[in-house]
Amino acid sequence: VDVDGEETLDPQNAEETLDPQDWEAMRRLGHRMVDEVIAYHREIGERPAWKAPDAESISAMRTAFPREGEGAESVFREFVEHVLPFPYGNIHPRAWGWVNGTGTTEAAYADMLAAAMNPNVWAGQHAAPHIEATVLDFVKSVVGFGDTASAVLVSGASTANLVCLAAGRDATAGEAPSRTGLHALGVPMAMYASEQVHNSVHKAAGLLGIGWEGVRSIPVDDGYRMDIGHLEQAIDADLQNGVRPTCVIATAGTVNTGAIDDLDAIADVCARYDLWMHVDGAFGAMAGLSDTLRPLVHGIERADSVALDLHKWLYVPIGVACALVKDAAAHRAPFSPPASYLTRLDRGVASGPENFSVLSPELTRPFRALKVWFSLRTHGTARYARLVEQNVEQARYLAGRITGSADLELMAPVALNVVCYRFRADGLDAIALDALNRELLLQIQESGTAVPSSTVLRGAFVLRCAMTNHRTKRSDLDRLVDASVRIGREILLGAGVD
Ligand SMILES: Cc1ncc(COP(=O)(O)O)c(C=O)c1O
Repeated sequence: VDVDGEETLDPQNAEETLDPQDWEAMRRLGHRMVDEVIAYHREIGERPAWKAPDAESISAMRTAFPREGEGAESVFREFVEHVLPFPYGNIHPRAWGWVNGTGTTEAAYADMLAAAMNPNVWAGQHAAPHIEATVLDFVKSVVGFGDTASAVLVSGASTANLVCLAAGRDATAGEAPSRTGLHALGVPMAMYASEQVHNSVHKAAGLLGIGWEGVRSIPVDDGYRMDIGHLEQAIDADLQNGVRPTCVIATAGTVNTGAIDDLDAIADVCARYDLWMHVDGAFGAMAGLSDTLRPLVHGIERADSVALDLHKWLYVPIGVACALVKDAAAHRAPFSPPASYLTRLDRGVASGPENFSVLSPELTRPFRALKVWFSLRTHGTARYARLVEQNVEQARYLAGRITGSADLELMAPVALNVVCYRFRADGLDAIALDALNRELLLQIQESGTAVPSSTVLRGAFVLRCAMTNHRTKRSDLDRLVDASVRIGREILLGAGVD
């Protein structure tokens, strides 16, 4: 203590914090970061759709952490030089690989604001649960679930599928296996999904003790939709063999082709056999945003549970998705073992209307809702509906350009927003044609022209574009078609086939 009675810090015993020593310098750094983000997003279309990180940047990124810090300025410089130039691709107007949303500038800001508040959104009386509840009400309305349905934001549709199927397994098992363990049931359980179902359903079945092989793979029709007759046969066969049927997983927008299962017919089957109907609507459920597209997902409102992503067809930065369960008690059942340390009280921080910790495996949860709330308030729901419609129109346009080209072949019906195609070459056998199209895909990506991805349909390697990109213009699709024809012909010539 010095002469004025103030505490003086003994440098040997100074207490540390991670707060900046110079707040003004931190403020300036933040402004530079925002400037960088603006330039990045504004000029994104002028850069290659994708390029691989170079050796120098990989080495910089893989450098081990220093024992003594180098300061945020220096780290930011490294970031701008070695990290920022190598995005995954999905923010680019010509990125249509797998199913990835584009993100927006204001939602990136919202992520920063959420991290600045840094709440734990397990429960409690603070802002974040109210924001999340507003987002959940919106998602319920998109799928036609009433206010009494239960919902929670999770990291992605894979986790949402797991959450919903856990609820479905427990609800159909009599004694909830989450509490008793599966052995108490004494019989194996089975789930049902089309052979086009996303593999996150198999992952969920594995984690739920049903096993990948417990997911019966139901054949599809010409439009890649689940065959309802085969579904009933599979359920009957299990019943005869002493296997307990649990959930039927319908898909609204399959990952491969965007096919939408006949949701009403599947709801009828579930009602007849008293089974849990789950809809994996990772992206397709967003058709419910649009009055003109909603009929395509008719019947989704009859499901017991729905999984859908907000980071795909709502264009919100990764990762936020929603698990919805109509019966709130069934939703809580697998996730609410007792915990005295989580008691919610009448007043204080641990009060508040929501308890998200009993709705998924997560306890500590980030403020995922803010970027969704920010986006929907910024643009309004009507604009999102128009963008979803625009993507569907773009998919139809691309399909039209492909069928209009003598060099290209459309490989699946376009039910929604996914287009599968390949370069055709009459002189090539199936193996050579696959090899040509694989090379075509890689050259389109490596030239930075565009980012389609691939899949295999009925044994054929195909290029695949999923339109969940709000930056795409028709001219971008023209560039893809032109490049596919030009590069395909070059490869064909190089292969010595005319
Ligand atoms: C139909 C479908 N289900 C589930 C998923 C998994 O979603 P996520 O990657 O958000 O976990 C995807 C991803 O593309 C999908 O297309």
